[in-house]
Amino acid sequence: MILVTGGAGYIGSHCVLSLLEKGEDVVVFDSLELGHQETVDTLKLNFPKNFIDFIKGNLQNYDEINEVFNLHKIDAVVHFAAFSQVGESVKNPQKYYFNNVYGSLNLFKAMLEHDVKKIVFSSTAATYGEPEYIPIDEKHPQNPINPYGNTKLMIERILDDYDKAYGLKNVRLRYFNVAGADEKSRIGEWHEPETHLIPNILKSTFSGGKTFQMFGTDYNTVDGTCVRDYINVEDLINAHLSALDYLNNGGETNYFNLGTTDGNSVKQVFTACEKVTGKDIPVEVKGRRAGDPASLVADNKKAKEVLKWTPDKTLEDSVKSAYKWEKVLQERLERQAK
Ligand SMILES: NC(=O)c1ccc[n+]([C@@H]2O[C@H](COP(=O)([O-])OP(=O)(O)OC[C@H]3O[C@@H](n4cnc5c(N)ncnc54)[C@H](O)[C@@H]3O)[C@@H](O)[C@H]2O)c1
Repeated sequence: MILVTGGAGYIGSHCVLSLLEKGEDVVVFDSLELGHQETVDTLKLNFPKNFIDFIKGNLQNYDEINEVFNLHKIDAVVHFAAFSQVGESVKNPQKYYFNNVYGSLNLFKAMLEHDVKKIVFSSTAATYGEPEYIPIDEKHPQNPINPYGNTKLMIERILDDYDKAYGLKNVRLRYFNVAGADEKSRIGEWHEPETHLIPNILKSTFSGGKTFQMFGTDYNTVDGTCVRDYINVEDLINAHLSALDYLNNGGETNYFNLGTTDGNSVKQVFTACEKVTGKDIPVEVKGRRAGDPASLVADNKKAKEVLKWTPDKTLEDSVKSAYKWEKVLQERLERQAK
């Protein structure tokens, strides 16, 4: 049985879906502070024959997470639960250190208490900070430039020490920019507020949507706008399944970048959104935002070699599935508002 923390959130729910499709038994642990009960209900509805238990609880409460291990025989953990808004982490670092670091410490304590020694952890490209070279490989120095990145790097360090001392085998997956949704639009990205580029561009095409704001057009990149590496959420989750197999086969603690190695500029993403939606999307060009590096692109050779993983979806695939999902979400929100 696999425990998925943060399984009611965007990426975690796609992991739950893939695990259920594989026939795994799954326990979802989520505070629902940012995740959605509807997401869990949809997963349950779509897999009536599978075992899926949802436990509402907060990692900051040791007893709540420890109880999950008392109730279920957990073999491995996939740990998504965290706060992840960079700007908010700068304004309120305490919220981030308590939730992400202290919450993870509680999770690891409960795992060790119950002799669970395998975990896949959601880390981030934000642990690298300002890039010294592109594409970024795993040897790139980790110097985060905000509290969010600091929390993720601290957890990586804790996991190293816990492996050495307690044999807690772990795989840290450093995501670049995650995009797209379930191809069948059962679940998708649903953040409030939404800070990610693709859903924000798409949202501006719906009634009541805000004009999309493009920050900075004078960077030293292909067209002056920031370049990021957009990795499709289904491809990303496949790497988690490979990481679980890797640990189950006795793999040592390791860490991998998850990206495509193809950078896309904000303007290129915007153009892809106009193509997929068939709409002229209103845009307002603004100045640079503080703390945005010009380019962030992953070198993904290590994940390809060790995890035998290859991402195969394009940016357009991600925009298409994100748009399909956004339509489902907007309809749902309209129904609920009536
Ligand atoms: N979305 C991206 O592009 C991206 C990039 C890099 C890394 N990540 C990491 O991936 C993970 C998932 O991101 P996401 O976009 O799905 O976020 P999300 O906010 O959609 O999901 C996180 C989930 O964790 C839950 N949660 C948070 N703190 C909790 C706690 N203390 N106890 C129990 N549940 C808690 C929330 O309610 C939410 O459902 C995060 O760890 C994030 O840092 C995401």
